[in-house]
Amino acid sequence: MSRKILVTGGNSGIGLEMVKAFVQAGHEVVIAARDIGKSQAAIAAIKATQADASIYAIALDLASFDSIDAAAVKTLALLPELDTVMVNAGSYTQGLRVAFGLESMVATMHFGHFRLMQHLLPTLANANDARVVVTSSVAHWAGTIDLDKFNNPKKYLTGFQAYGSAKLANLIYARELARRVADTNIRVNAFHPGGVATGIWRELPGPIQSVVDRVLISSAKGADTAIWLATTDAGKTNNGQYFVRRRKAATKAISKHVKVADMLWRFSEDVAGI
Ligand SMILES: NC(=O)c1ccc[n+]([C@@H]2O[C@H](COP(=O)([O-])OP(=O)(O)OC[C@H]3O[C@@H](n4cnc5c(N)ncnc54)[C@H](OP(=O)(O)O)[C@@H]3O)[C@@H](O)[C@H]2O)c1
Repeated sequence: MSRKILVTGGNSGIGLEMVKAFVQAGHEVVIAARDIGKSQAAIAAIKATQADASIYAIALDLASFDSIDAAAVKTLALLPELDTVMVNAGSYTQGLRVAFGLESMVATMHFGHFRLMQHLLPTLANANDARVVVTSSVAHWAGTIDLDKFNNPKKYLTGFQAYGSAKLANLIYARELARRVADTNIRVNAFHPGGVATGIWRELPGPIQSVVDRVLISSAKGADTAIWLATTDAGKTNNGQYFVRRRKAATKAISKHVKVADMLWRFSEDVAGI
């Protein structure tokens, strides 16, 4: 079966490896990222070896509601039978940046994707076997779900605390969405790719970066669990699970707390609902 797949952050790193694997297997893919030139270059490189690949690029900035709304319209125009979304785009930034009044990593990785998914879920609900795969991280253990910090981004003490909170929100979102769609054909799972050698760590302080660099795995290895969840029975028979190297893994206790998930969902609707 040929899937119709949106990959956010599909123009580099882990997302690009997902894209390559999907088109090689004959699936139709839309790449959504900010730098459309980079996305087009990635497509040109893929088409150089696979001229008939069905692959498109659209602009998406998860820090802009207008961009998110336009990207959703374009995605559904290109893939009216969209059945798979890889919720993957993300960044690590040092120093406070703000989007929608929120710390920008939390804003883009969780709240931006929340709004994008609100546009796409009705179409996914029409598919016989729809999948949502969320790129979370082991860094979720460093995160908190704290309305005070959401409302006062300066209260995040470090970039890693904000990044961890974004990845915890990604994980809770995956679980809560899975719960909300359990009686539909949509299945939602999350994964940690491993520590992966991508551009995401470019803003880490130099000394930390040189230590981290020694232990990182390739983007292709990092993408493996996501590709497995999107394209094999594993992604159909599981719902609301978190995987590391294709195995279910432990998560922070709060990520299973239904009241916290419901609170995050309602806050997300207030901030980024459509
Ligand atoms: N690398 C790791 O060790 C690691 C570990 C655990 C989890 N992760 C997660 O894996 C995901 C992919 O990261 P990566 O490591 O592959 O890094 P990457 O190579 O830097 O890729 C990040 C992707 O996200 C896109 N992106 C960033 N900010 C965006 C925004 N505001 N709107 C739309 N697209 C945006 C980027 O494209 P543009 O710049 O063109 O927008 C790029 O395609 C992230 O969610 C990250 O948190 C990574």
